Amino acid sequence: MPGDGIGPEIVAEALKVLERVGEIGGLDLEIEQGLIGGAAHDAAGHPYPEATREAARRADAILLGAVGGPQYESLERDLRPERGLLGIRSDLGLFANLRPAILYPQLASASTLKPEVVSGLDILIVRELTGGIYFGQPRGIEERNGERVGFNTLVYSESEIERIARVGFEAAMKRGKRLCSVDKANVLEVSELWREVVERVGKEFPEVELSHMYVDNAAMQLVRDPKQFDVMVTGNMFGDILSDAAAMLTGSIGMLPSASLNSEGVGLYEPIHGSAPDIAGQGKANPMATVLSVAMLLRHSLNRNDLAERIEAAVGRVLDQALRTPDIFGEGMKLVGTQGMGDALVAALDD
Ligand code: NAD
Ligand code: IPM
Ligand code: MN
Repeated sequence: MPGDGIGPEIVAEALKVLERVGEIGGLDLEIEQGLIGGAAHDAAGHPYPEATREAARRADAILLGAVGGPQYESLERDLRPERGLLGIRSDLGLFANLRPAILYPQLASASTLKPEVVSGLDILIVRELTGGIYFGQPRGIEERNGERVGFNTLVYSESEIERIARVGFEAAMKRGKRLCSVDKANVLEVSELWREVVERVGKEFPEVELSHMYVDNAAMQLVRDPKQFDVMVTGNMFGDILSDAAAMLTGSIGMLPSASLNSEGVGLYEPIHGSAPDIAGQGKANPMATVLSVAMLLRHSLNRNDLAERIEAAVGRVLDQALRTPDIFGEGMKLVGTQGMGDALVAALDD
């Protein structure tokens, strides 16, 4: 599902990589194209049309580019591209969003932070994706006392907190065994419950060192000393914001992939960035976040860790070749566009 803006450009490169890695690994892939976001609204009158929904329900895994763009901002809210993305996440029950922020050593100087602050960075943000303020009811804009008020509801049930906490603990068990739960328990009742439930789930994982942090401090700590973190678990909106901040630690938002999983193991894979209207159509978007999302797809949905590692190694090799899209470009590097980067990645799969 390529979507809008740079979506089709980056998904085209990611598909080249997927097809080549499929040949190498003897994968019997059947790929369908689906409309989502503004492109789907233009063609079918809805950002998440029924045909897309059916294709999504048939699929073992979904690769998505990005949705949205200024031309859609005047649409009524339910028809906006972003609603398509929220629709597919909710429809498939993709509550667990994994956003790894890993610094490739070749990009230490591409980060806006000092190399020593980010070198060796490897953190995982576990973001709850189908609840919280994004979906809470009531919501709306209405007239009250002679003026309009806008309102949304931040709500989490114990079961929603419990299942995302468990994903966080399980991820921590496979990594550095440290989990930091991020909330705003000094102000919000939702967070008070969040903390209590996370603590309770933590009893099942005595080996994991659990800590809690307020979200404002967490934002500051992420840029002060990001390597203090192993796994972070948090709600929908806090996770959205913190993961964009974490992206910059790795050199560019064009580097961060994600996996959104449900309890049946179906996954949707997409870069964490958006449709980048400011550079769309110019052939200069970085396709690496989408290509690394393909790696996550192979690992989490198709059980082919070997091929995931092959893609991740190809990214490293291309960076060794000094090839850079503009977002990660620097002195002494060779500038390439989206397609040039995709071609180099495909070639590097065979090395
Ligand atoms: P954005 O992530 O699209 O862009 C932010 C900045 O990062 C821009 O300067 C852009 O050029 C740059 N950037 C993003 N991806 C890049 C890449 N692969 N290579 C190089 N540079 C890249 O965020 P925004 O501008 O706030 O939002 C634009 C639109 O995208 C909005 O309609 C928004 O709703 C939508 N959006 C969609 C998703 C998604 O589909 N998952 C995520 C975020 C934003
Ligand atoms: C993301 C995006 C989406 C979100 C928007 C486009 C709905 O920012 O995937 O991070 O907020 O979840
Ligand atoms: Mn976001």
